[in-house]
Amino acid sequence: MLPNTYFYGVGEHTGHLNKKATHLVNWNTDNPNPHNETMDRLYKSIPFLITMTDGEAYGIFFDNHFETHFDLGKDNVNYYYFAAVDGNLDYYFIAGPQVKKVIEGYTSLTGRMPLPALWTLGYQQCRWSYEDEERLMEVANTFREKDIPCDTLYLDIDYMRGYRVFTWDNERFPDPEAMIKKLNGMGFKVVTIIDPGVKADEDYDIYKEGIEKGYFATREGQVYHNEVWPGDAVYPDFLNSKTRHWWSDLQKRMVDTGVSGIWNDMNEPASFKGPLPDDVLFNEDGHMADHRETHNLYGHLMAKATYEGLRKHTTKRPFIVTRACYAGSQKYSTIWTGDNQSTWEHLRMSLPMLMNLGLSGMTFCGTDVGGFGFDCSSELLSRWVQVGAFTPLFRNHSCMGTRDQEPWTFDTQTKDINRKYIKLRYKLLPYIYDMMREASQTGPRLLDRFYLIIKMMAIHMRLMMSFYVVKIYL
Ligand code: GLC
Repeated sequence: MLPNTYFYGVGEHTGHLNKKATHLVNWNTDNPNPHNETMDRLYKSIPFLITMTDGEAYGIFFDNHFETHFDLGKDNVNYYYFAAVDGNLDYYFIAGPQVKKVIEGYTSLTGRMPLPALWTLGYQQCRWSYEDEERLMEVANTFREKDIPCDTLYLDIDYMRGYRVFTWDNERFPDPEAMIKKLNGMGFKVVTIIDPGVKADEDYDIYKEGIEKGYFATREGQVYHNEVWPGDAVYPDFLNSKTRHWWSDLQKRMVDTGVSGIWNDMNEPASFKGPLPDDVLFNEDGHMADHRETHNLYGHLMAKATYEGLRKHTTKRPFIVTRACYAGSQKYSTIWTGDNQSTWEHLRMSLPMLMNLGLSGMTFCGTDVGGFGFDCSSELLSRWVQVGAFTPLFRNHSCMGTRDQEPWTFDTQTKDINRKYIKLRYKLLPYIYDMMREASQTGPRLLDRFYLIIKMMAIHMRLMMSFYVVKIYL
């Protein structure tokens, strides 16, 4: 390693854009604490590194889905290394010298993002949770009344019957099909969350079928149980192609109700009663693989099954959002950076994080605009929307128990700033869509343009700031 060697990519990590002098771990992790720079692992594992020395780049894709480590000169200033706890030393050297050539090579190996539907590039509104039909319709109507463009509304876990995936709580949502039809008529698409944890409940058809057909992960010859939102839950064995086909077909229940996209969450997989033990087994079509070998693939394969289900049961381009992923997940899904907080630090942190995700092949990515945990403030929301309008996935989301952060929930000035930047996003849509097309063909192109947009944004912000200075001065 030379003194002027820099490092980029390696998926989702906090910290600076240049990863020099850090030790990064790839082990998909749902850590409920606020993300900070001391965390060496988050939800995604993409063991792909770009190094640059004197403006010349090359890449290394270490295709190993056990826990992997990238020590980028932390251990010793004279060298960097990558390592894994097990598995093959199976890596690809990708020549540059330009960064975009490296990403082009990497995405020709691992796949490229398919062209997304235009509506997925518009503004999206989420909340944990729009808890019933009345509230969801109220939000939808307010967008239209206040003339704030929005294409997508999300339903978080409370639309389900007791957190049973692929069901609806018919007290809160008496007629989801009619409701979604109405929303579609108003120009909204609806995206619903689907988590992997299946409630262990003898009266629940999906659990019963999965048990009968052996679709769940096992331990010591028994189906393995842990706990997630529904309480006692079991984990679909996404390593098994039969389970994936089953899961693909279950998507039909959602799309037949009118749902336009699926949001896959908690698929590291998350578990409330301690991490899954190493000896939980997955049946990779005959090869019994343990949790150490399969953990980092779990979210990727869940997204694959979801994507294939949407391909099979609709005539539309699938829209999937996933929290956990592995190298190549760009083929199936867009991503968001999980549970950030409504703080200025997290707004700042989102930029290098998204850029390194883009450099890791995950073109279509975003953060929870306004921040997920903690209460957002009016100025923070305005600033975050001003950034979010220029990021590929533009979704405002917030946690249960935090204050509302839809664009109009502060004051008139905040609402007007939100509207202005959301409208600017819509003006740029043909351009962004075009970039997405290029990215779907070459992998890196969006990134170039993304930098350009960020530059445009910086110039714009500077102009705005000088405007305020002039105003104050006057
Ligand atoms: C997880 C997700 C978050 C979601 C919540 C409830 O924390 O990261 O986005 O709102 O679960 O489903």
